[in-house]
Amino acid sequence: MASREGSSGLAESPQASVRERILLDQGWRFMKYASEKDADALIYDVRPEVGNHRDDRPADAKPTEAVAVESDTPVLKPWILPTANDFIKDPAKRFQRPSGDPGSDFPFVQTGFDDSDWETVRVPHDWAIEGPFMAGENAAVGGGMGRLPSPGVAWYRNKLDIPASDAGKFIFLDIDGAMSYAMVWLNGHLVGGWPYGYASWRLDITPFVVPGGENQLAIRLDNPPDSSRWYPGGGLYRNVWLTKTHPVHIGQWGTRVTTPQVSEAFARVHLAVSIDNDSDKDAAVTATTKLYALDTEGRKTGEAVARFEPLQVALTAGESAELESAVTIEKPRLWGPPPTQTPHRYVAVTTLEQNGQTLDRYETRFGIRELRFDAEQGVFVNGEPIYLQGANQHHDLGALGTAFNVRAAERQLEMLREMGANAIRIAHNPPAPELLELTDRMGFLVVNEIYDAWERKKTPLDFHLIFPDWHEPDLRAFIRRDRNHPSVIMWSVGNEVGEQYTDESGAAVALRLHEIAKQEDPTRPTAAAMNYAKPHMPLPGVMDTISLNYQGEGIRDAPAYAGLPGIRTAPLYPEFHKTFPDKLIFSSENAAAVSSRGEYLFPVTGEISAPVKDGDGGDPQSGQVSAYELYSTPFGSSADKVFGSLAKHPYVGGGFVWSGWDYLGEPTPYYSSRSSYFGVIDLAGFKKDRFYLYQSHWRPDLPMAHILPHWNWPERVGEVTPVHVFTSGDEAELFLNGESLGRRKKGEYKYRLRWDDVKYQPGELKVVAYKKGERWATASVRTTGAPAALEAEADRPVIRADGLDLAFVTVKVVDEDGLVVPRTHNDLTFTVEGPGELVATDNGDPTSMVSFASAERAAFNGLCLAIVRAKPGQAGEIKLTVSGEGLRETVIDIAAEG
Ligand code: GAL
Repeated sequence: MASREGSSGLAESPQASVRERILLDQGWRFMKYASEKDADALIYDVRPEVGNHRDDRPADAKPTEAVAVESDTPVLKPWILPTANDFIKDPAKRFQRPSGDPGSDFPFVQTGFDDSDWETVRVPHDWAIEGPFMAGENAAVGGGMGRLPSPGVAWYRNKLDIPASDAGKFIFLDIDGAMSYAMVWLNGHLVGGWPYGYASWRLDITPFVVPGGENQLAIRLDNPPDSSRWYPGGGLYRNVWLTKTHPVHIGQWGTRVTTPQVSEAFARVHLAVSIDNDSDKDAAVTATTKLYALDTEGRKTGEAVARFEPLQVALTAGESAELESAVTIEKPRLWGPPPTQTPHRYVAVTTLEQNGQTLDRYETRFGIRELRFDAEQGVFVNGEPIYLQGANQHHDLGALGTAFNVRAAERQLEMLREMGANAIRIAHNPPAPELLELTDRMGFLVVNEIYDAWERKKTPLDFHLIFPDWHEPDLRAFIRRDRNHPSVIMWSVGNEVGEQYTDESGAAVALRLHEIAKQEDPTRPTAAAMNYAKPHMPLPGVMDTISLNYQGEGIRDAPAYAGLPGIRTAPLYPEFHKTFPDKLIFSSENAAAVSSRGEYLFPVTGEISAPVKDGDGGDPQSGQVSAYELYSTPFGSSADKVFGSLAKHPYVGGGFVWSGWDYLGEPTPYYSSRSSYFGVIDLAGFKKDRFYLYQSHWRPDLPMAHILPHWNWPERVGEVTPVHVFTSGDEAELFLNGESLGRRKKGEYKYRLRWDDVKYQPGELKVVAYKKGERWATASVRTTGAPAALEAEADRPVIRADGLDLAFVTVKVVDEDGLVVPRTHNDLTFTVEGPGELVATDNGDPTSMVSFASAERAAFNGLCLAIVRAKPGQAGEIKLTVSGEGLRETVIDIAAEG
């Protein structure tokens, strides 16, 4: 079964275009071997033995050399490599498929194999997210990879719907992402595959299909253990499509739109279209392209705003050609980031015709915008300087795992936007294609990044194993897929790679990647994030920009960091600026600050930034980290310190906090946990205090004030309990039970107001903030009563009944006055009635080992999250009931609309 897209909007052409794009979301059968030892021998390649299973290496540890493996074991790699051929420039380096058909006698690939006892799943599917979590020191998957069973070997099977009328068409399988080492059989024949789990790729299955027959697809995935520094997820975790075309058709990612001249009066739009004549006849075709404006939802509006002159080309059988032309649009509606600009978009609709018959029709969304990168003044979009207020984001969606969901990703971006973020760095691999649709639509600037490792390794079985064969095809495919997105402003070809440490030989690898990126897209600059390379080393000179992780603020460079082991540097912005006076410098990662929402530990450091230590910001017993938002990894800095150092170096174009949201895996500093402490927003999507620190700095015109900590400290009466305030004002007065504790002003390079000597008394803390002497904002925090009831609130009251849209319901434990009671961990039970289902629950506690699929979960510091979806095609009222012992239950209705 499948949902159909494409072939819509064909009203203009007399004959239907043959291009169809069919989503293969349903009908999948899935089986995962209990352990790697039980798996079949159809391996892509042999892998080195892993000696050291520890996954808590510090993030800034030096990557090491690859281990060579010699073996006579038969492997399938030679049959998979030819899939890369379209992305290898030098014809001499392309791969020949060997003879033979490995795996063709294996039962799972046979049409007749009975898979009825395999699990039925819907794709996108993350096979590991429901757990169980593996707790404890010697767990097979440790904290680094999120303690979830992502490693392993598994198979997916599905029947393709290819009617007899498809005879003569070209049929492609398009996979947006399969984690990982995918190998694909159709009707018992090995077609090809692609190892990198974050890549999008295509297989031409035409030679293997039987139009009108039964077409059995079988996909084998093999996710290595010890292959990632975070939770990679596992499975067909992004969309899978079947694309059907006429033999003469527009190529894969076959259009390239650029806007070489942009002004308010007019824009020049340049279009290149590549056409493949995969037929056995010569073809004389005409390509016509019209441009339409899109509305905010991405729908075409009105008449065409411009038309390209029709282009004619004669292609011999088997030939491909690229046609180029340009057109002018008067008074273009430019794409740019809010709040000062609007992300307007256009679509180019290209129609391919032969003798009046429509052969293909292809849509390319794009935006018209001009980017400029200035070494003194930063990034300019359409002539306006845009300071990068960015967040790094990993690909998981918290409790939903890595199975891509548009609404979940949109919610992440909406909250980052609310905080004031205008930019996203994709850490550290190609995102789902739909994520860039969202960033285009919402107007975020994106640093699009492809690799976390090159030839040298960070974990024993990471990307370095396939780098030699795949770096070129992966990089070319990545850029061709994403080059038309207006939100993408830069290609980052690596993050903190080991080649920073290997001088000229490392720089040679960097240069090769830089050159590939420039061949594919000369319009955008390159970057490679550096946490070690220094100005005098060869690597920084290679890229177009200087992308610094942590080095800009200085590493272990504040009083509280003295005496820590490890690399130490002064703030390196000035030295890089001096050495590379023509290159934009930006802070690709900063902060790596850590905290657990709602956990406050005493005493509180008097510094503006301090490394988290057991008993000093961190509690090894509870596995929690203080939310005073002053603590960081040893190599990181608090937000306050980052803001100060960016302000002191105004030529730096801004930066990206590590990280916007918490993510699965990498639970520095407590690897007994399962998810990170880095996020400004926790894994469930609840705001940590830090959210307001960023908001106060990034949205200076938004009147706001925020007080921390909560004010429920019965055991601290009379004890010093510091009170900190984040405000977009410049001054504030704090009151405890009506009595002033003094009015304080932000000093130079100071971003919070602190009253560090407050002695706790229950009651009310109130702050009145001022800006330029005028009253600006107020906030208060009260000591609450005992937990009495539950309250629930959905992010949206109405969702689509398509089985994909989601309602995120926040559940609060409140006292009789409706105040959220902090420090409560009541056990809650979730029940759904009506045409919906509970997808997952979470509470943002990094230490929790309760499966995300559980309908029972404790609140964490007063809050809990339920994620609900409507059953596909079933409109109606979904009723979610949340109950907990001793608490008045709450019922919330979510309307599902068809
Ligand atoms: C950086 C790394 C990130 C993350 C972060 C926090 O060094 O690039 O991927 O690991 O540290 O530990």
